[in-house]
Amino acid sequence: MSASLAAGLAPPSESATARAVHGVTRLCVNGHDHELVAGRDYAPGDSLATVLRERLGLTGVKVACDQGACGACTVVLDGRPVLSCMTLAAEADGCSVLTVEGLGEDDPLIVAFATQAQPGHGTALQCGFCTPGMVMTAKALLLRTPRPTREQVVEGMAGNICRCGCYPGIVEAVVRAGQMAGERAGEQAGRSAGERTGEPAGDAASAASGAEG
Ligand code: FES
Ligand code: FES
Repeated sequence: MSASLAAGLAPPSESATARAVHGVTRLCVNGHDHELVAGRDYAPGDSLATVLRERLGLTGVKVACDQGACGACTVVLDGRPVLSCMTLAAEADGCSVLTVEGLGEDDPLIVAFATQAQPGHGTALQCGFCTPGMVMTAKALLLRTPRPTREQVVEGMAGNICRCGCYPGIVEAVVRAGQMAGERAGEQAGRSAGERTGEPAGDAASAASGAEG
């Protein structure tokens, strides 16, 4: 896989650097608000990865190459996947950041990566070092494309490297996560329809899926 994920990232801007030198950086990380004062809580040149790991203790954010080439440090910033090793903390001022710690244990991606055993594709993780970055890249992909095809997954994950070579299992896990999320949404729609009509959930779910079809 190539490092195309890094392609859209601009170098730190003048204004971001100025903010880092003089100001306060406000981040909403996994739903929690943080105010970080430059020079007190972080150094002006600190990357988002450094701040997330060393100031906020979110060590699920992995740093491997530290130069934008592997995707291990990927987090979701306002819905987009970004390389946190290549992003100044000050550039994220005012943004919402999602890291792997912000996903629930029952998140379809967490479940799919942990349980991938589709015959012929192998596991989705071996040493696990690339996994948080893979999961967060996949999270952003599923936000854009809820039920991606295998081809869309391969393309969307092109910037993430797995040194253990678990790519077939990873692709299966992401496809399965999209399917799982869709099934859950269908079940939820069925329950909601059942609550409105008073029908048993199963009947309402059938009705709902029939209506969608
Ligand atoms: S650690 Fe950020 S891209 Fe490799
Ligand atoms: S599972 Fe080891 S690097 Fe991907």
